[in-house]
Amino acid sequence: MDARTLKIEAARVALSHVRDGMKLGIGSGSTAEEFVRVLAVEVAAGMKITGVPTSERTATLCRDLGVPLSTLDEMPALDLTIDGADEIDPQLTLVKGGGGALLREKIVAAASDRMIVIADASKLVDTLGRFPLPIEVNPFGLKATELAISRAATALGLSGPLQLRMRDGAPFLTDGGHFIIDASFGRIPDTRALSDALHAIPGVVEHGLFLGIADAAVVADADGVKTLHAA
Ligand code: A5P
Repeated sequence: MDARTLKIEAARVALSHVRDGMKLGIGSGSTAEEFVRVLAVEVAAGMKITGVPTSERTATLCRDLGVPLSTLDEMPALDLTIDGADEIDPQLTLVKGGGGALLREKIVAAASDRMIVIADASKLVDTLGRFPLPIEVNPFGLKATELAISRAATALGLSGPLQLRMRDGAPFLTDGGHFIIDASFGRIPDTRALSDALHAIPGVVEHGLFLGIADAAVVADADGVKTLHAA
């Protein structure tokens, strides 16, 4: 089975958690986009939901496919968010932000009663960190923020290159107008300590570690789809 088929399978199972009338956070990335496609079929068949998209790209896809949207300002409390992830550990701590939407994804997920992650099984890891950790930073003082991140990492016994994410020869800009630094620390044994240390740096807007946010992970592999809960 190819990766896209697995993403669609996970998206279909996640859709079974969506009820008529729900206020729904809608994630970003290729797996979340498969969810938008299966959701749009149900909406066309009469399901009533209102979505809050986590990126401009997801908003455009929803509009193209007829999924009704609102904003977090109009609906500040959501029932459920469904989103992808770059890595998922056994506690359902996530690395997110491979697509650069981590800030809005975290705001939307935190405003939701529940978050369900959808993924193919390649995203499951024992310890987070194989995927570089995206850190969203303010462009002002970039070098000072990089240095502070590097020092905070060293204090926690972490090291590895910090790479400013580029696109078409210029720094990648998030929907919020920030830069992304991809931090290749390797294994991150203490995600809470790293999260706290990054949040203490003024130039860090947000990071891609999602701790205690996901309630379940719907994960597809060639043997079928499993729903995982925190170990
Ligand atoms: C977007 O910024 C990310 O957090 C995505 O949710 C994550 O990168 C997963 O994307 P894929 O489903 O494309 O792997």
